[in-house]
Amino acid sequence: MAAFLPISHTDNEQKCSNLMEKTSERYKETLPKLPKAKGWMTQHLVHYQGVWLTPKAALKGLMLIQDHFSPRPTDILLATFPKSGTTWLKALIFSTVNRSRYSFSGHPLLTTGPHDCFPFLDAYVYENDRCFHHLDRLPPPRLLSTHIPFTLLPTSMSCRFVYICRDPKDVLVSKWLFMNKLRPKQLPPISLEEAFELFCQGISHYGPYWDHVLGYWKASLENPEKILFLKYEDLKKEPCAVVKRLGEFTGHPFSLEEERRGVVQEIVKLCSFENLSNLEVNKTSVQKFSRDIVVDNRHFFRKGEVGDGKNYLTAEMMERLNAITAEKLHDSGLVFGY
Ligand code: A3P
Repeated sequence: MAAFLPISHTDNEQKCSNLMEKTSERYKETLPKLPKAKGWMTQHLVHYQGVWLTPKAALKGLMLIQDHFSPRPTDILLATFPKSGTTWLKALIFSTVNRSRYSFSGHPLLTTGPHDCFPFLDAYVYENDRCFHHLDRLPPPRLLSTHIPFTLLPTSMSCRFVYICRDPKDVLVSKWLFMNKLRPKQLPPISLEEAFELFCQGISHYGPYWDHVLGYWKASLENPEKILFLKYEDLKKEPCAVVKRLGEFTGHPFSLEEERRGVVQEIVKLCSFENLSNLEVNKTSVQKFSRDIVVDNRHFFRKGEVGDGKNYLTAEMMERLNAITAEKLHDSGLVFGY
């Protein structure tokens, strides 16, 4: 369950390590040539294969995944644009898939943060870039999450995906507040106006936001049995219905008997904002994603509401974002509610 397993060395791992070295060299050669823009959390973001990434973990993690990750049909990948509901969905998928293993009274989520129960693939490979064998040792179904756009993942991805998207106005505000908390003290804070302009231009981690959402949306239309596309707003409105869909999709459908016993409601309650945000582990512990990314768990729980963007953005900002969204999603069949 721990995100980072101890590293040991065998001959196979040595071979693997040599291949990783090649990717590291490619990374070192590529990085200085990439276009740069202002970063939200780091000083800069770099532009690689059409997406904006932090220059260390995100870029190198992507390259390692593209070169070496071998997905399995039993894998469940949670894919998100940052601040769209990753933490919540990690808890819901983890507790749905593992519900026969754990009782609610002694559940791992009561003492372990959602990000430790359900590791980030991107950060995991960056941290353990000497070898991918550690991932191979995780039992099926491997629950892994990623922010990588669908179109940049290796074409051999034979696993199933759950994607969650959220209204861009709430994503932008949530992201701005979160990134300013993580931004090193030596860099001046980034203003909302500046974050807004960057977001509209597509410049934010794993942005442009609209390309990210559309990539998974189109793939889900083409392959609905492989990609379950969810919206944060629907999850807020009807959590039990969405959890039942998650059960079906992940191959762990709820039986009538479980429904009668209220198992779906128990999962929703366990993973609710009120419950998770008040647990000691989520109030006081840190999440160590990699050697350079350590985040206080409490930062993943702010308000958890729909529509909070309008408490920060001006009417003009909302209008402009709505107009960009309408233009980008035009004809796609995907719409946001507010
Ligand atoms: P806000 O900043 O709008 O409150 P991510 O997990 O992708 O980083 O997204 C974080 C957002 O999800 C934050 O939104 C956070 O408060 C919200 N969130 C975290 N846990 C949640 C939960 N259990 N239920 C609803 N929202 C949750």
